[in-house]
Amino acid sequence: METLKAISTRTSIRAFLDKEVPLEIIKTVLEAGIKAPSGGNRQPWRFVVVTDKDKIKTFDPDDHQPCVEQAPAVIVACANPYDTWEKYGENDQCYILDTAAAIQNMLLAIHDQGLGGVWIASFSKGEVRKQLNIPKHWKIISIIPFGYYDERNIAVPRKKLEEVAYLNDINCPIK
Ligand SMILES: Cc1cc2nc3c(=O)[nH]c(=O)nc-3n(C[C@H](O)[C@H](O)[C@H](O)COP(=O)(O)O)c2cc1C
Repeated sequence: METLKAISTRTSIRAFLDKEVPLEIIKTVLEAGIKAPSGGNRQPWRFVVVTDKDKIKTFDPDDHQPCVEQAPAVIVACANPYDTWEKYGENDQCYILDTAAAIQNMLLAIHDQGLGGVWIASFSKGEVRKQLNIPKHWKIISIIPFGYYDERNIAVPRKKLEEVAYLNDINCPIK
């Protein structure tokens, strides 16, 4: 899929078919993730792919986000902040930005492959850490449930360009 078309047609998908995602597609998505830019090319991201339904069920114990439990696959996007901190010191937060860039790449790759997914920040990090044996020093950034779907959501509206973009001075919105 052409890049701008992929960007403009992607929407969050929160309902999935009960159909396994082939490993080749999972790897294509992860490869897109690791192509993201990162501060100092430190590549602090770590991804745990979860297809075990019993584990996935625990990620959202109060079932606030039914799409998590329904998803045939979930990517848990983590970061090892020491990759960044070794170069830039322990106040640096690039590891979060880097992992977010990787997440967006993966959401676009999921869409490109004809599947859908959603970026989820609200879930039980404690359960995820426990179930997947994630080391204490890794940060759990977000999870991406994804899979095949029936219906694409209607695109959620965006603010107009002139509300968020300016030329040279914030008194000059780009129209
Ligand atoms: C940092 C971040 C956290 C998000 N967390 C959640 C979440 O916990 N649950 C959810 O359903 N969607 C979540 N989303 C998805 C947004 O709701 C969605 O991207 C936004 O409404 C725009 O819709 P679209 O992705 O269809 O364009 C999150 C998105 C981002 C970038």
